Amino acid sequence: MTSLTDTFHQWAAHSRERIGRTPLEPRLARIGRVLQVGDGVAMIAGLPDTRLDELLEIEGGAVAQAVDLAEGSIGCVLLDEADKAAAGSPVQGTGEVMRVPVGEALLGRVVDALGRPLDGGGAIAAQSLSPVDRPAPAIVDRALVDTPLSTGVLVIDATLPLGRGQRELIIGDRATGKTAIAVDTIIRQRASDVVCVYAAIGQKASSVARVIDAVRRYGAPERCIFVVGEADAAPGLQWITPYAACSMAEHFMEAGRDVLLVLDDLTKHAAVYREISLLLRRPPGREAYPGDIFYIHSRLLERAAKLSAERGGGSLTALPIAETQAGNLSAYIPTNLISITDGQIYLDPRLFQENQKPAVDVGRSVSRVGGKAQAAAVKPLAESLRLEYAQFLELEVFTRFGTLVDERTRRIIEHGRRIRAVFTQPQFAVLTVGEEVALLLALAERLLDEVPLERIGAFRERLRDWLAARQPDALELDDSSPALSSAGRARLREALAALAQAVAGESRSGGA
Ligand SMILES: Nc1ncnc2c1ncn2[C@@H]1O[C@H](COP(=O)(O)OP(=O)(O)OP(=O)(O)O)[C@@H](O)[C@H]1O
Ligand SMILES: [Mg+2]
Repeated sequence: MTSLTDTFHQWAAHSRERIGRTPLEPRLARIGRVLQVGDGVAMIAGLPDTRLDELLEIEGGAVAQAVDLAEGSIGCVLLDEADKAAAGSPVQGTGEVMRVPVGEALLGRVVDALGRPLDGGGAIAAQSLSPVDRPAPAIVDRALVDTPLSTGVLVIDATLPLGRGQRELIIGDRATGKTAIAVDTIIRQRASDVVCVYAAIGQKASSVARVIDAVRRYGAPERCIFVVGEADAAPGLQWITPYAACSMAEHFMEAGRDVLLVLDDLTKHAAVYREISLLLRRPPGREAYPGDIFYIHSRLLERAAKLSAERGGGSLTALPIAETQAGNLSAYIPTNLISITDGQIYLDPRLFQENQKPAVDVGRSVSRVGGKAQAAAVKPLAESLRLEYAQFLELEVFTRFGTLVDERTRRIIEHGRRIRAVFTQPQFAVLTVGEEVALLLALAERLLDEVPLERIGAFRERLRDWLAARQPDALELDDSSPALSSAGRARLREALAALAQAVAGESRSGGA
């Protein structure tokens, strides 16, 4: 039997032999120096082999990304621990580009652009790491957008339908309900299998908290990821946030799932990028934005796609948000984004003030690819709606001057007012396809024309329970249901007519 000391001696001899065999050669490392640092950017010298987008480690823990390679110096954006970097600090290249954790472990979490938890939960056990900047799927790997993505907001699903894999811009002045539409769309996905990624860029902490709270309260937070680059985060971190969020979303798309990516908002992203670029002394272009601002946004949004069946058939739908100044759609960043995306939902501050919420201006909004993807049950009912509504808006202007109108015009106007009242929808009250079909059918069959305007809200509120008791299969309709059969339509019409009568009756008898 060997004693303990024998075992130890054996082990020591073995170790000595192993160490002897290991080649310990001198290692060559280039060490650069920070020339100057401040406001989230740094200039670095002495690392001529650095490649574009390479991560550099500054002694003390700060990490920077090389974004400008010039002879003699490198312009960097600080991503992390920016206050730990000081002029003169040694810097080393890493040979790596920026990567973020991706995978199931992120679902239900709030993280920053580097994938570090912000929700007080434990560290994220990522499946793998993915570069934040990746090329978009090639044309041959894409399929046509043909599957609807319901937003639960009637005016959008009826007149500006979205398809999975589409890029639709939500644009409007400040505080016109842009975030509210995106949040409602996320909440609506509680009844689907879509994974939602919400990227907050340069937002106030209180606004971000409101969004997360709403999704936790009404939505399916276990299928959402919140990627947050708040207004007080390092500019580099805010700048990288949409790319990181997109990589996290892409992981699910490549696994064959459907993903919704909300980018709130790209105007602030452009402003942060302008700030970084000016600090790095890049030549400013129009409105002082750097020349590649169009490129960086199109490169990001091109990553939204519907993949072909051979690539798993997943999709990434992007809802970027942009802010306008005084409704000016032809400013630089808004026109850029409008031309990159497949359509825009324009929110009008005037409508918002008139309490028409959501304040979607149907005339100035468009969805260029979603029409083909509209839910089959909704499509036949929504076809003429856009036209009827536009006609009404035009006529209504005249009646403002107290013009006497003929009977036919009066009826168009009364009907238009009903359409507008049905399109008015409170926040968080997202509709299922069944409810949307019922509301649109009630409009198409003119059942609401006898209901007083102020009772339309009550009609909507009572609809679900009413149908659950009388026409439960109407509520079962979803994105994949076929259009109503004529018998089904007649049955639903009957139930809706009874509800309209009940609601109108209540108002006559002075009830409610
Ligand atoms: N459909 C709605 N019904 C009632 N109130 C709404 C509706 N949509 C938005 N609001 C309210 O309008 C306000 C502004 O909404 P929101 O924050 O979504 O606008 P925003 O355009 O994202 O603003 P910001 O420019 O600050 O990001 C909020 O107080 C919100 O509760
Ligand atoms: Mg907002």
